[in-house]
Amino acid sequence: MQQITHDVLIFGTGLAGLRAAVEICIRTKGAADIGIVSKVQVMRSHSVCAEGGTAAVMRPEEGDSLELHAWDTVKGSDFLADQDTVERFVHTSPDEIRLLEHWGVPWSRREDGRIMQRPFGGHSFPRACMAADKTGFSEMQALYDNLLRYRNFRRYDEGFVTSLLLEHGRFAGLTLYDAPTGEFCVLRAKALLIASGGLGNLYGFTTYSQTVTGDGQAMAYRAGLPLEDIEFVQFHPTGLVPSGILMTEGCRGEGGYLRNNKGERFMERYAPKMMELAPRDIVSRAEMTEILEGRGFPGPEGLDYIQLDLTHLGAERINKRLPLIREVCIKFLGLDPITHPIPIRPVAHYSMGGIEADIDGRTKVENIWAAGEAACHSMHGANRLGCNSTAECLVWGGITGNQIAGYLSSGASLSPAPEAQAREEEKRIFEGLLRQTGTEKPALIRRELRTLMDRHAGVFRDGKSLREGLDQLAGLKDRFRRVSVEDKSRIYNSNLIQTLETANMLELVEVLLLSAVAREESRGGHARTDFSVRDDARFLAHTMAYYTGGRPRLDYKPVTITAWKPVERKY
Ligand code: FUM
Repeated sequence: MQQITHDVLIFGTGLAGLRAAVEICIRTKGAADIGIVSKVQVMRSHSVCAEGGTAAVMRPEEGDSLELHAWDTVKGSDFLADQDTVERFVHTSPDEIRLLEHWGVPWSRREDGRIMQRPFGGHSFPRACMAADKTGFSEMQALYDNLLRYRNFRRYDEGFVTSLLLEHGRFAGLTLYDAPTGEFCVLRAKALLIASGGLGNLYGFTTYSQTVTGDGQAMAYRAGLPLEDIEFVQFHPTGLVPSGILMTEGCRGEGGYLRNNKGERFMERYAPKMMELAPRDIVSRAEMTEILEGRGFPGPEGLDYIQLDLTHLGAERINKRLPLIREVCIKFLGLDPITHPIPIRPVAHYSMGGIEADIDGRTKVENIWAAGEAACHSMHGANRLGCNSTAECLVWGGITGNQIAGYLSSGASLSPAPEAQAREEEKRIFEGLLRQTGTEKPALIRRELRTLMDRHAGVFRDGKSLREGLDQLAGLKDRFRRVSVEDKSRIYNSNLIQTLETANMLELVEVLLLSAVAREESRGGHARTDFSVRDDARFLAHTMAYYTGGRPRLDYKPVTITAWKPVERKY
């Protein structure tokens, strides 16, 4: 089996991965040899879909402050965020915006030429730096353009990582199925950054690209790295019905209203001060309450909905600030938001949890770092504020890139080649999984799994339903042992890739459901109808899930509190 060696491997090419790659190039003056691995092509990473903006304090002279951004984030997190991490974040994100300005992001501008910032949910100041409603795309393009100034990297596009291998407790290599050639190889390096994105496709109704299946989290977990706070999934209040496509919070930031079937702006009852711009957990619960109490609109496939009304904003504002939203509504629904309200409902959008990483992005394994949505730096706690995610990717892409560059220059060495493990992995996939002739179709198991999550781990949960979900999961895991991959070829075998992804998803669903059952309280995105209040005495703590080969072992670790004691959240 071919072995390829680099100084550092970056697994994932979204905002966090690209930002880290650029940082490593800068810090090492282009000397570090970087391998960049993506299951898609770079510019198809899900970060290109980020729409509304990137949070940073850019106008202290107009009333914003770092303390205010930190407070908004901590309160928005329902006090589960580690406050030292939040403080580092708010101090660093303005520099990231200025860097991207220099690197060519075409920010939307105010009349005075300064970067435009729009209001976003849970932020008490307009803080979302924006490039119309295609912010992620512009940021990705600027980062990729800047990476191209260097020549010291090799891309492994459409390379599916199947496992993460350790030797003597250190990172030793990734096994890679290279879809275009059908080859299987080992990528070795002195250091690894996992920046492989979220896990949104655990749900059927999601804003995520089909490719976002939590692969990095699942293989890190199997390799012994703990997963943190996986029960906290964010439901974005405005997913287009029935596709789930994101209707950016920027729609409400620009002044859009949410209305029920009586025409009421119902947020008045749930968050009288911030209304539609309350944090996402609160708005999503409000929408579901309206729907469950019969004040929604009947929708297709059981997807009853609420209306997002932009009709009062006028054509000029919509065309200038929300062009993608208009285009998507017209293309997918034949509906023009200039004249018609948009059908929306809460949609799975973000994972607050991930691979445990410290404030520098370092994991429990000495030479592995994690950044972006795959990681849990405990910065979003139980509920992330909108536009803090792209900012987090940039901030921790920069931090981990810098850390890794320092590690490489300190004389880091390669671990022994994980040859035996890699051969085992090749055998497992190509002699086992690919050849076995079972009766079960992986695509059906995957579909049922996602439906299970929609039904049992949604905006509102309770112990009984979560346990039913676990029972059904056991059935799906059992069936998965009998799957058959129909396509037996080696080259571009998307059937095989989707089967491997489904295995990852089954693993993560178990962690998520068990962590959710164990957390007998309601906090942020985890709303239990049978434990409806926050319980700081028992659960002001991060859930830690450890791989055992059987059911995950759960434990808890304390939240870092620096300045802000938990209080009741009112908006
Ligand atoms: O609504 C949005 O544009 C999403 C932003 C985010 O998740 O931060």
